[in-house]
Amino acid sequence: MVCLGNICRSPMAHGILEKKVAELNLGWEVDSAGTSAYHRGEAPDNRAIETAAAHDIDITGQKSRQLLQKDMSDYDLIITMDTNNYNNTLRLATNEAEKAKVKLLLNYSHPKENRAVPDPYYSGGFDYVYRLIEEAVAALIADVTKE
Ligand code: 4NP
Repeated sequence: MVCLGNICRSPMAHGILEKKVAELNLGWEVDSAGTSAYHRGEAPDNRAIETAAAHDIDITGQKSRQLLQKDMSDYDLIITMDTNNYNNTLRLATNEAEKAKVKLLLNYSHPKENRAVPDPYYSGGFDYVYRLIEEAVAALIADVTKE
């Protein structure tokens, strides 16, 4: 799960997906990162922590890191929150197979619309962002497990 700072959107997406993967015994490895290193080493934003906690998801153990070229080969899917993240992530891909792994999260819940998960860092709206992510993560799991 990839956003800009890896302290708001992608940590919530990471926590939500990780919880569902555990509940469904899918055995997937889940991680998150930011396209920037602005917040490297930091815990998630307190508003993200509180929003996830309200849904019984503990993301306090997460630590922000920057997305690496190596992630493009290590993971099967690289899920981005908005078009900027998407374009910056694509730049790390070294071949067509890696490019094909890069997706926009909300295209799972709203196919082909290229919608963004709005950045709540300055403007707030964490509950709304949480609901958008949760809906899309459920659609992602349905999509991947039907294959
Ligand atoms: P995120 O939110 O990409 O959802 O983690 C942001 C966090 C920090 C900044 C921007 C967005 N920032 O500019 O520091």
